[in-house]
Amino acid sequence: MPVVRGKVIEPLFTPDMIAARNRSMAAEIAASPKQDLLVISVLKGSFIFAADLIRALHDAGLAPEVEFITLSSYGKGTQSQGVKIIKDIDSDVRDRDILLIDDILESGRTLRFARDLMYERGARNVDIAVLLDKRSRREGNLDADYVGFECPDYFVVGYGMDVAYAFRELPFVGVVKGDA
Ligand code: IMP
Ligand code: MG
Repeated sequence: MPVVRGKVIEPLFTPDMIAARNRSMAAEIAASPKQDLLVISVLKGSFIFAADLIRALHDAGLAPEVEFITLSSYGKGTQSQGVKIIKDIDSDVRDRDILLIDDILESGRTLRFARDLMYERGARNVDIAVLLDKRSRREGNLDADYVGFECPDYFVVGYGMDVAYAFRELPFVGVVKGDA
């Protein structure tokens, strides 16, 4: 098993698995008509997934514009839980089709906030694409329109995702198993 920063990382989703899934998700996304499509990558965790999915969208025949929003949740595990905008998009979303891309859908708080925000700003339609769905952790009902993989309830790293700012560079998604 790979050892990074002195930790053993067990791969859950390999680069080949992810690349194949990105191609099929892009084909699914391209299968329904889009109007003035704007893809919004929810940073930071989605940056590698978004980069790959956006190129797969091109291969599938779409020509989206691309934007970035940095969101952060606060008060995890406390009573005042919420999501705040750290860095907003620059584009106008009015009357446009939006595809939000994020790494993981867990409680759903982050993506519910982002979706509602885009509808409040007048988006025509907002779809959600996530690499991983941790369904067992959901609070309320929010479903992604496009899901790469169902994810077991482990804390995962790699392919853009971090623990304490580490492991974003891994080309696969894995679980930290402990010291090597
Ligand atoms: P939600 O708002 O609870 O749906 O949280 C989703 C966000 O939490 C994701 O966009 C990730 O940034 C982060 N997150 C959730 N689970 C993990 C994980 O296992 N590894 C790394 N980040 C995670
Ligand atoms: Mg995130």
